[in-house]
Amino acid sequence: MRKDKIAIIGLGYVGLPLARLFATNYSVVGFDINTNRITELMSGVDSTLELDNETLQSVLVNEASDSNGLFCTNQLDKIKDCNYYIITVPTPVDKNNRPILTPLIKASETVGAVLKKGDIVIYESTVYPGATEEDCVPVLEKVSGLKFNIDFYAGYSPERINPGDKEHTVEKILKVTSGSTLEVGEKVNDLYKSVIIAGTHLAPTIKVAEASKVIENSQRDINIAFVNELAKIFNLMEINTHDVLEAAGTKWNFLPFKPGLVGGHCIGVDPYYLAQKAQEHGYHPEIILAGRRLNDGMGDYVASEIVKCMIKKNISVNGSKVLILGITFKENCPDVRNTKAVDLIKTLKDYGANITIYDPWADEDEVMHEYGLESSKTIQNRKFDAIVLTVSHNKFKELDFLSLKNKNAIVYDVKNFLKNDLVDGSL
Ligand SMILES: NC(=O)c1ccc[n+]([C@@H]2O[C@H](COP(=O)([O-])OP(=O)(O)OC[C@H]3O[C@@H](n4cnc5c(N)ncnc54)[C@H](O)[C@@H]3O)[C@@H](O)[C@H]2O)c1
Repeated sequence: MRKDKIAIIGLGYVGLPLARLFATNYSVVGFDINTNRITELMSGVDSTLELDNETLQSVLVNEASDSNGLFCTNQLDKIKDCNYYIITVPTPVDKNNRPILTPLIKASETVGAVLKKGDIVIYESTVYPGATEEDCVPVLEKVSGLKFNIDFYAGYSPERINPGDKEHTVEKILKVTSGSTLEVGEKVNDLYKSVIIAGTHLAPTIKVAEASKVIENSQRDINIAFVNELAKIFNLMEINTHDVLEAAGTKWNFLPFKPGLVGGHCIGVDPYYLAQKAQEHGYHPEIILAGRRLNDGMGDYVASEIVKCMIKKNISVNGSKVLILGITFKENCPDVRNTKAVDLIKTLKDYGANITIYDPWADEDEVMHEYGLESSKTIQNRKFDAIVLTVSHNKFKELDFLSLKNKNAIVYDVKNFLKNDLVDGSL
């Protein structure tokens, strides 16, 4: 019997670690439309920093073959003899927060063009329930001319990785799997079980597996919105929110969420996918969208708190020098997509503040390209009227705050990360 051969479509934060893992046991071809990404990966470098060079290089091979290993390409013919196609492309929203399925549809067209009888196409991108069978499978059928569940099959297995987290890596996270028939569900489950140390959970249907992923992130979003609301209330009452959360957290069933800016392309985006589908079914989600509204407004809120803090210390905000520590959407990770630090920066700029951004993780060119903002990976030897920590990168612990502060300057800590005696205000 021929050994399974896997194509991974989309080699980003999700696709690359998955491709590397499968490559330890299978012949894997990684396919991406971004030629720069292919060039960097084939040179043994991962700019997302999810894989260190040594780990990536240990599986790379120079040509697609039937032996174990990973070959990365943007050439369609290199994936044509695979029998599993796993799709890990982005699922963003537009400016009105409506799902953009274009990358999924395009990736389905790509796979449809090489699909053969007996192949299985597994989607990993986060979607609303129904997207695989109602939006993607028809594209596979149309392009390939093959019949679903007769000639080819589908699966859905959501990704649960947490970028920047070196402890919960892909093989150590239990994986939900599903298939378009009972037998295919078992096959998909066996495929993942062969590499995922933490094991798998076979969901009864693709829709169940899709729904399970989108509610994981929606639940986090709503819980964070709740503590963000608490922070707003307790700030008015001059009660320290973190002290309250620490005290409440001593109860066994109190959930340990912290206030903060909710950015990125998962927690801040996925609830909109669920909301859209709910609305299509005639239900207007109240809690899900209220959570989104609250979290989306936090950048503006934090900026107004910083301004209040500065005014109380007689610092003129207009013309002030403000140092922003962190522009990525989360700690110890270079990902700047949908970072909410930019909302805060925009509002501070509206008040006339001069902004300097220091982020040892963020790529300066990407920050300029995405947001038109200058950032630096090195800290400048200057003094500031306000220092605002937006992201808890470990490196910020090493900073000498006193040498960066003008006399009377304030320090605002969005993440409650710094020592209390350094800080003038926090969420
Ligand atoms: N990053 C995370 O933390 C995370 C965690 C769990 C789930 N997810 C979900 O996984 C999916 C992928 O996210 P990501 O963070 O890896 O995205 P990403 O932007 O890091 O990577 C996606 C890759 O797909 C490529 N691509 C886009 N369109 C393509 C196409 N038509 N054909 C081939 N390649 C294409 C891009 O060039 C890019 O390299 C999303 O649905 C996301 O919601 C992400």
